[in-house]
Formats: sequence, structure tokens, C-alpha cells
Amino acid sequence: MYKIFSSSLVLIALFCVQGTSAWVAPSGISNRARSEPLHALKIGKNYKPKWKKKETLAEQEGSAAPQEKGITGTINVVFQSGENSISTIANPGTPIRDVATQAGQFIKYGCGKGECGTCAAKCGGQWIKPCIAVIPGDVVPGEDYVIEVKEVKNKAKSSGKFYSFRSFIMGFYNNVLGMFAFVKTRRAAKKNYDERMEFEAMVAKRTAEKKAAKAAKEAAESE
Ligand code: FES
Repeated sequence: MYKIFSSSLVLIALFCVQGTSAWVAPSGISNRARSEPLHALKIGKNYKPKWKKKETLAEQEGSAAPQEKGITGTINVVFQSGENSISTIANPGTPIRDVATQAGQFIKYGCGKGECGTCAAKCGGQWIKPCIAVIPGDVVPGEDYVIEVKEVKNKAKSSGKFYSFRSFIMGFYNNVLGMFAFVKTRRAAKKNYDERMEFEAMVAKRTAEKKAAKAAKEAAESE
């Protein structure tokens, strides 16, 4: 118990040190900013994200027809997301992922290799995975190839803010979770170790008893 308590204290101390160093020299802040006092750093509302979501061709060109944007293709593709739909054109064999990006259709991806199902969309009553699927070659001429994608509420537009209140809370929460997990794992490991030691001691005791009995038997026979 004492060991667990002391290891928890060490972890809390580490957490505090980490937190302090994050205040002094957070990653992503220039060397000049590192030497400035905290109140001079551009944090909170003044923080300017380093990157912003890159505009797609569709966003740059607005609502112009696909041909006017330089998109070519023989198949009419329609992306439906809730009440919204976006029409575009594509050639057979083109990855649906690329077609969606060109058309400005947001699709949320996870693994990006057809394993997790995050991007799953419906097409002709069947589920497809846009991250790996391509526009088929057997679409009937003149018919639309309709892909129903899931509605996504939160689209990432920029990197998060440093030092937002939520980031502090989440950081603290994660550290507490980590400490609990550490203590729990150590307890389980200690129990396991004690059981193993107990078993090994029992085996050693029985072996010694057997050896002693064998020696006594041999001594009795030789007399
Ligand atoms: S992103 Fe995982 S299956 Fe498409």
C-alpha cells in the first residue's frame, strides 16, 4: 500500500513538472515566445492557428458546373448528405474519395483503408467504403450514380486553440486516468508476483521433502 501511495505521489509530481514546463515552453511556440512572460504570449482568443483547412477545388470555384472547374467524366455522380446534394461527374475507376474531395463533399474517414467503416456510405441499397471504393464501370448511361453519405456535424476547420479551458480539463482528466490505470496495473502485477512466489516456495518445499525421504530410504536400505 505504501509503495502504491508513493508511486502515485511520484506520478503527481511528474504531472506537475510537466504542467509547469508546458506553461514555460509549450511546443509549437517560437523561441522568442518561449522567452516571453506568459501574459505576453498570444493565447486564448488571440491565438492564430498555424494551419487552416485547405480549400478544395469546389470551394475555390464556388457553384460552377463541374466542367467549368476542369472536372471531366462520363458518369453523373450525386452525393447526398441529409437534405443536401452535390452533383459532379467522374470517370469509371476514379476513387470515390477523390471525386468527393473535388466536388466539395465532406466525408469523415478513419483508417482510410477499408477496415473501420467510419466512412461507410450507401449506394444502390448497399454499403460501400468510399475510402477504397471506385466509381464502377457498369453504371447505366444517363443514370445518376447516387452515393448517400453520413451527415457530419463537426468538420475540422482549423487546428485547436492552445490553452483553451477544455484542453486543461482534458489534460488533467487524462493524467488522472493514467495514474489510476498505473496504480491498478501495479496492484495486479504485484498480486501475480506474490502468487508466483508462493507457488515456487511450495514447489521447493515439496522437492526438499521428497529428497529427504529418498535419502532416508536409501540410508535404511544400506544398513
Ligand atoms: S475510413 Fe475506415 S473504412 Fe473507410
